Amino acid sequence: AHEISRVRNLSRIQMGKFELEPWYFSPYPVEYTQADMVYICEFCLSYFDSPRRFERHRGKCNLMHPPGNEIYRDQNVSFFEIDGRRQRTWCRNLCLLSKCFLDHKTLYYDVDPFLFYCMAVRDESGYHLIGYFSKEKESAENYNVACILTLPQYQRHGYGKLLIAFSYELTKREAKLGSPEKPLSDLGLLSYRAYWQDTIVDILLDWKGGDLTIDELSNCSAMTTQDIIHTLQNLNMLKYYKGQHVIVLTDAILAQKERQRERQRAKGGFRTLNPENLIWKPPV
Ligand code: COA
Ligand code: NA
Repeated sequence: AHEISRVRNLSRIQMGKFELEPWYFSPYPVEYTQADMVYICEFCLSYFDSPRRFERHRGKCNLMHPPGNEIYRDQNVSFFEIDGRRQRTWCRNLCLLSKCFLDHKTLYYDVDPFLFYCMAVRDESGYHLIGYFSKEKESAENYNVACILTLPQYQRHGYGKLLIAFSYELTKREAKLGSPEKPLSDLGLLSYRAYWQDTIVDILLDWKGGDLTIDELSNCSAMTTQDIIHTLQNLNMLKYYKGQHVIVLTDAILAQKERQRERQRAKGGFRTLNPENLIWKPPV
């Protein structure tokens, strides 16, 4: 399908306690493009072009979390698994909203073939959506992520890394290897590169065995050998020595790791995924 990239069409969005400015075109019904503000119910993701209609809706809406099973919970966040076929309207609303921040992904209507993994923070008023990724129920190419998004009000706080880590945790449970669907956006690529680098360096630092092979790295991480090799090459960590490839932790990488730890300490720790909190079996 050929999609004309059209200009941003909504001026502002209000969602929960946040006001957002869309980055890209999203195919909301045309009458919404005339509104100064589009009001989005942060729980059911329905949209309204007048504050009165929105308030009337809020008086009736009972949803307090994404409409699926909570499959992960720790002290910070929860993840919900949502089937596009069972929750068509909600997932279409999610895709419409996320298209505001995605340049090239074109899914909004045919949500049936996808599962949506939605991350939320809890407080007394409910589970507030932070971000999500979609995943094909059957991917011939072994893609483990189709679209991935952190809502702008939550970006640059480590949630993207958490979403990516979660996607690989599911792939580990499936006993598969996975990679995100291409092409990735600039921000998507930056985030994946950071995740791949972190994951590889952490495995290397923990490794107690002999020489670590690319296959072993792949088995520990659920990352494809191709993504691992590209990452190692980008970081100058793959050396050819006596007729063999060897993986080396360079001083530059170690120094970078130390700087990252300091940054994270300064921020008061950082978000990690606890695999034991994932209560999930691959859908059959
Ligand atoms: N500039 C530079 N580096 C960035 C960046 C930016 N604006 N955003 C992310 N990164 C890199 C950094 O290395 C960052 O680690 P650091 O903060 O420790 O330096 C790393 O990516 C992860 O950042 P994180 O805070 O975990 O990501 P996020 O919650 O901001 O989410 C995306 C990342 C890609 C999900 C988010 O930018 C997004 O939703 N973008 C719009 C949708 C999109 O493009 N999706 C991907 C294509 S399908
Ligand atoms: Na992606």
